Amino acid sequence: MINLDAVLTEVLTWLEPIGEVQLEGLRKGDLNIVTKSHRVDFVTDYDVRSEKMLVQKISENYPDHAILGEEGSSIENGSDYRWVIDPIDGTTNYSHGFPFFCISIALQYRSESVLGVVYAPMLRQTFTAIRGQGAQLNGRPIRVSKSDTLLCSLISTGFPYTRESKNVNIDYFLRVINCISGIRRSGSAALDLCMVAAGMLDAYWEFNLKDWDVAAGDIIVREAGGSFEQIEVGEDTMTLASNRLVYDELVCCLFNRCDNYNKVQLEI
Ligand code: IPD
Ligand code: CA
Ligand code: CA
Repeated sequence: MINLDAVLTEVLTWLEPIGEVQLEGLRKGDLNIVTKSHRVDFVTDYDVRSEKMLVQKISENYPDHAILGEEGSSIENGSDYRWVIDPIDGTTNYSHGFPFFCISIALQYRSESVLGVVYAPMLRQTFTAIRGQGAQLNGRPIRVSKSDTLLCSLISTGFPYTRESKNVNIDYFLRVINCISGIRRSGSAALDLCMVAAGMLDAYWEFNLKDWDVAAGDIIVREAGGSFEQIEVGEDTMTLASNRLVYDELVCCLFNRCDNYNKVQLEI
């Protein structure tokens, strides 16, 4: 296995220059926003530019590794190591200057995340994790929250871009809203996962995310003591992360079948 501490040290040097380019884009206001898969799925010149910068760094330092990037970068070379990158997670926020956006970088070994880095330039927050070594925020260890009842919990979710059909998450949202203390929609899946890791949120769920949205947050939340799952629900996939303590109650509430939780686990 590659020396992951050395990899993390290297990756940390990439963040500020790319973050600075993103902030400069906001200052100049020349983002050139266009749509992608749906009418409200946006991409800016800075998503593309940031991904190019990341791919260049990865290729310089780890030329044998595979790469998967949201903006189209794909190097498949049979390597056991694969970088999964989202150059701006939270592009809708970014294009409005709303501060919840980040660079999400994961290194996977045989399809499992072994290193995760999430950097939010406007928040000046860097979340990191290496498999087996815990998780950090700006270099300090973080842990999931100790909240053990849903009614006292702050939960986050998100909604897919599609506007053509009923939003898959609406029924789940309506069920959960009355069982919790508060709900948030940050607009960045990677940051939602990091915030569960840091105990700022107690749980988070969302449907149909992509690998690049969750690959870094996955290891960060698990290394902070939390749970991370992808659950098949019919044709959709629910990502569910929690501090573990509210997991059972949240699953009951989401699936509206609290009387028979064990059965729910078998069915989903
Ligand atoms: C999006 C964000 C958002 C989530 C969307 C993602 P993008 O990523 O993570 O929070 O709700 O499903 O696609 O498009 O800004 O990189
Ligand atoms: Ca994303
Ligand atoms: Ca993105």
